[in-house]
Amino acid sequence: MRLNKKIALVTAAASGMGRAGVTRFAHEGAQVVAVDVDEKNLNTVVKGLTDAGHDAIGICADLTDDTECARIVTDTVQHYGGLDLLWNHVGHPGYSRVEDLDAADYEITMDLNLRSVFRTTGAAIPAMQSRGGGSILFTASIAGLIGSPFSPVYSAAKWAVNGLMASLAGRLAGDGIRVNSVCPGPIDTPMLNVFMARPDQNADKEANLEMMKGNIPLKRVGTAEEVANAALFLLSDEASYITGVALPVDGGFVSK
Ligand SMILES: NC(=O)c1ccc[n+]([C@@H]2O[C@H](COP(=O)([O-])OP(=O)(O)OC[C@H]3O[C@@H](n4cnc5c(N)ncnc54)[C@H](O)[C@@H]3O)[C@@H](O)[C@H]2O)c1
Repeated sequence: MRLNKKIALVTAAASGMGRAGVTRFAHEGAQVVAVDVDEKNLNTVVKGLTDAGHDAIGICADLTDDTECARIVTDTVQHYGGLDLLWNHVGHPGYSRVEDLDAADYEITMDLNLRSVFRTTGAAIPAMQSRGGGSILFTASIAGLIGSPFSPVYSAAKWAVNGLMASLAGRLAGDGIRVNSVCPGPIDTPMLNVFMARPDQNADKEANLEMMKGNIPLKRVGTAEEVANAALFLLSDEASYITGVALPVDGGFVSK
């Protein structure tokens, strides 16, 4: 098994790619900590894993709160005795325009995509250092590699996530901690519906989706499992010589 007995913490794990991630990691032998603000869906995900014989717990936390971002790490260490793998997956699809910046949208987009990730990672680093190493993964986006005309705040936050990733990769290499990010293109999860039907765009979700697919070389959106597969690889020892990489999982979108 590719993550045998590794202690893996995943945020935004009750839905979409995070849920696909905890499921994949558990099947590969990890001891999984699933974190989400949605208690009902979180309980369903964790029950599914434990009923199938996997080792998993859920922690309900609102990651807009700095204290909660650190608590999920201390609770993990308390329960499993350490932390090996962290997937900072939580994010928020902000849409505010530059010309008439919506302060509330700006705050939540920056808080969930960036500030929370600083806090959780800051708590995780000493825990990994004390075990002699680990692996950290961020979820950025193709909007963190190229511009996103309709989501400037989201794009700025995801570029910053990749900046944080690159900064930490060099600093933490000596501690045996690898740091990478996945940069999904359009992925078939509830969040994609939000991106496809924002108030400042044509409200026809299906038309927006078809137009999006037409711009992807592989001519389809991705699945949550396809991103979870990339996350598994980057977090696992199979990627032992890979650090500081922002990997697009996007059907070729940024290659054009
Ligand atoms: N879906 C896409 O097309 C796409 C593309 C690129 C990047 N991303 C990134 O992927 C990540 C999540 O995407 P997804 O598509 O898996 O989403 P999703 O909509 O399937 O799930 C998001 C999860 O985040 C949880 N969440 C929301 N606010 C939270 C909070 N304050 N504290 C804790 N949990 C909270 C929700 O309850 C939900 O379970 C984000 O970082 C997003 O920016 C998504």
